[in-house]
Amino acid sequence: MTINKNSQDTNQLWGGRFTESTDQFVQAFTASVEFDQRLAQQDINCSRAHARMLGHTGVLSQQDVDKILAGLDDISKEIEAGEFQWSVALEDVHMNIEARLTDRIGDAGKRLHTGRSRNDQVATDIRLYMRDAIDVLLAEIQRLQLGMLALAESNTDVIMPGFTHLQTAQPVTFGHHVMAWYEMVCRDADRLADCRKRLNVMPLGAAALAGTTYPIDRQYSCDLLGFDSVAANSLDAVSDRDFAIEFCAAASIIMTHFSRVSEELVLWSSAQFDFIDLPDRFCTGSSIMPQKKNPDVPELVRGKTGRVNGHLMSLLTLMKSQPLAYNKDNQEDKEPLFDTVDTLMGCLRAFADMIPAIKPKHDNLRQAALKGFATATDLADYLVKKGMAFRDSHEVVGKAVAFGIEQGRDLSEMTLQELQAFSADIDEGVFAVLTLEGSVAARNHIGGTAPDQVRSAIAAARKSLAG
Ligand code: ARG
Repeated sequence: MTINKNSQDTNQLWGGRFTESTDQFVQAFTASVEFDQRLAQQDINCSRAHARMLGHTGVLSQQDVDKILAGLDDISKEIEAGEFQWSVALEDVHMNIEARLTDRIGDAGKRLHTGRSRNDQVATDIRLYMRDAIDVLLAEIQRLQLGMLALAESNTDVIMPGFTHLQTAQPVTFGHHVMAWYEMVCRDADRLADCRKRLNVMPLGAAALAGTTYPIDRQYSCDLLGFDSVAANSLDAVSDRDFAIEFCAAASIIMTHFSRVSEELVLWSSAQFDFIDLPDRFCTGSSIMPQKKNPDVPELVRGKTGRVNGHLMSLLTLMKSQPLAYNKDNQEDKEPLFDTVDTLMGCLRAFADMIPAIKPKHDNLRQAALKGFATATDLADYLVKKGMAFRDSHEVVGKAVAFGIEQGRDLSEMTLQELQAFSADIDEGVFAVLTLEGSVAARNHIGGTAPDQVRSAIAAARKSLAG
């Protein structure tokens, strides 16, 4: 990156009305090239479409269009090869590329900006960028979904305690728990796809704010760039950043989900729970405590939630009270947006690698489910099926649990006689109900934890992912 001392070329693209050159600090302060050069290939594609459109409507000669396209191809290669000299004096990605084009092809380069402004240009570039970014993120989400399905599938019959208030509630299957994560991620994917639909609208042609006096054909550029439609109002087209907010909102929800899953993984891999083994490659050790194996990946993902939520707040605040149309404030949209894309991509990658590698500890899960009177509701339901009202059976089982706590024994560890002391309705059949297997198998309806239901849910998920 070069910072020009002499500002000769500082204002070559807009210097006509200026009598003094930009203050050097102001030049660096207002420049965005350091972070918006990430939009270079989208900017070039946008320029290609614009030039071809101008050729199509006769605003530019075919000769100029050919020169522009060839020049842009060369610049694209220079950028890809890392040979492009970015200059802060040229402020942003748009003016850097345009100036380079004119260096290379002469006057035809100066005609490229006919009928457009950086305002519609940048709005178009970011949308092109976000469209691609969402496609990559969605592919990574699908990898995570497949990983979750694999983990659920190999654990459809593994029983663990289900929690409410982090207290043992009822037995569930490990596969069912994983499929709950899967549902969250499905909604996340839908939200991103929905955001993509709304952002795939083309601002180009809005020019600075009011449209342009040249005979442009916006539908023509729209088709070239693969947008679904042309933005209907030029003022809105250059100033709208809803899509950036929407994307960050969707990203915040994803991170919120990931933080919840992470929290469970951190708890489960603790010595106190000891429910799972996280393979060593997702953990690190301590420099002082030799025994430590820390679940760094889930912890870091949990931590990064704050950063993404912060970016959402930045964008909401950035756009709050902005009058129409473009304002320089909008340049501040990029860093939060790009960091959200990068952070999300990193977290998705880590999760897609880690989730299918989780090793549940079957015996520990089972032992934990046997503690905490997880089948108490089953006993209450059993009594209801024998004719007792639920409120009464709740009371009866509550007393049995109190006795169990005193004795240090689970309901299934009591004798028939002991149980009958709480209700004469209890017979031999009660023990089938009090087993963990009986408890989960009994919840056999759509969305229930029964292994058969979990298998159906996995099959349905696989079908919907394939379709
Ligand atoms: N770098 C600017 C941005 O990111 C490009 C648009 C600037 N337009 C202007 N009229 N200053 O928003």
